[in-house]
Amino acid sequence: MNSLVTYVLLSIFALVSATELEYDGWLQLRLWHAVNNDPVPNFEERGNITVSSIRSPVFAVSQSSLKPYEIEQLKVLAEQDGTYRLRVLVRSSSGSEVVLHSFVRACLLLGSNLEDIISIWLDSAAEPIAVNLYSLGPCSYEDPLSDTWITNVNVKYTESGPIPDTASYIQKLEREREARERGETKDNRSFLAKYWIYIVPALIFVILTSATNPEAGGGGGGGSVQRQ
Ligand SMILES: *[C@@H]1O[C@H](CO)[C@@H](O)[C@H](O)[C@H]1NC(C)=O
Ligand SMILES: *[C@@H]1O[C@H](CO)[C@@H](O)[C@H](O)[C@H]1NC(C)=O
Repeated sequence: MNSLVTYVLLSIFALVSATELEYDGWLQLRLWHAVNNDPVPNFEERGNITVSSIRSPVFAVSQSSLKPYEIEQLKVLAEQDGTYRLRVLVRSSSGSEVVLHSFVRACLLLGSNLEDIISIWLDSAAEPIAVNLYSLGPCSYEDPLSDTWITNVNVKYTESGPIPDTASYIQKLEREREARERGETKDNRSFLAKYWIYIVPALIFVILTSATNPEAGGGGGGGSVQRQ
């Protein structure tokens, strides 16, 4: 019986700590692109991407279609074997904001009919550190079949899978705690709302121990069992 209780308790605590350590976040991307072939890019708005879960990843894309003059520029760019440049402002759920750049050969975008792939690289603390744009092509210098983007988004990790390592996770918790103390995100949930994950296993522990050791319940806790 005791080993059963221990086993159940261990499982509960394993579950609780897994829930505690599980971290998910979101990313918001604003995209600008340059279809000119000058050293200085002339960035214009391209659209937005929202990644609502960096673990899944679940994303939503909202992008303007290419205007006829942009398609003409893209063809000129392709003929000169120029690069299409992308500027991305990434905002993450931790509150950080970073501007990242990537580029791809313009002829590949034409050949794939504006189908491209945007990879967002995260470090071990789940902070964005790079964006990578690519397109599978093939190279083409003709009009694309469509003027709308088909964009695939994926989230990549530089190290050790999707769970941030413990040290940086703890640093992140520290930063959040400091932010709370500065009153930025005041945690005014009730005591129960905050600590139920500790209270529930403790309650189950009390119930299990009193149920398996009815005779040892002497003083306070086992009262209801003793009455019978
Ligand atoms: C992208 O978001 C910005 C502000 O967040 C908005 O002004 C703009 O219209 C959006 N663009 C598209 C194509 O959805
Ligand atoms: C917590 O505080 C914020 C503002 O400080 C308030 O808008 C919110 O309703 C409060 N929540 C609870 C549960 O008291």
